[in-house]
Amino acid sequence: MRLDKFLAEAAVGSRKNVRIYIKEGMVKVNKELVTEPSMEIDENCDVIEYLNEIVSYAGKLYYMFNKPAGCITAKTDEIHKTVFDFLGEAGTKGIFHVGRLDKDTEGLLLFTNDGEFEHKVMYPEKHVEKTYFFWALGSLSEEDKNQLEQGTYIGQGKILTKPARIEVDKFGVYEDLKHEMATNNVNNINSNHHTQPVVSGYLTISEGRKHQVKRMLKSVGCYVIYLKRISIGGLALDKSLEKGQYRSLTELEIQKVLGNL
Ligand code: URA
Repeated sequence: MRLDKFLAEAAVGSRKNVRIYIKEGMVKVNKELVTEPSMEIDENCDVIEYLNEIVSYAGKLYYMFNKPAGCITAKTDEIHKTVFDFLGEAGTKGIFHVGRLDKDTEGLLLFTNDGEFEHKVMYPEKHVEKTYFFWALGSLSEEDKNQLEQGTYIGQGKILTKPARIEVDKFGVYEDLKHEMATNNVNNINSNHHTQPVVSGYLTISEGRKHQVKRMLKSVGCYVIYLKRISIGGLALDKSLEKGQYRSLTELEIQKVLGNL
């Protein structure tokens, strides 16, 4: 196995980072300093050290987590609860989150110690689709939907998003649909509830820019008030997982994420 692959799989860091560690002389193989990330090693008998600590190969771990709103996607935080606070023992095994969800976003978040898997899921060129269910203040015309699907400019840098898919689920006015909304986050609502247009739907994207869904919908005049990720690749969030719960992925599910099934 390549040395950089071994270190990434042993959760020393992402593929990109472990290559830097190797080139900067932080890694030894059988007590010899090495600087070549592509070096072939035998993970069963070679002794690999990172910063003079022996690296043990834990095997690959993959989890799906149903993230509740109100916690941040980070390992630690001085103020807020983090996703790792829900993982208990599993969170101590060198795993990291695959991408991020905003503090107020719910739903499917993956964890792994496999840097290559993370890379495949997150790298836009790999086209792993992520689908989000949303409620937003505003309405979506055919023209808006076309814009979202074909590419819309988001953020101050005016980045053009890659092709996406949008499916409107419900639309109407707040007063009629408020009982169906899975959120109380309606602070920005128009004081005239009767006429405030609202819309729900599914947006599927294959990139992972910061606040991408919110910014895409904002670009067509919609303000997201509820957001939940419901699938990654061919893997849907397990409906039996309560908010805050996690479980291991099966081999079949790992392949579904990567679009191999
Ligand atoms: N897009 C967003 O705007 N927020 C998320 O948490 C994920 C995708």
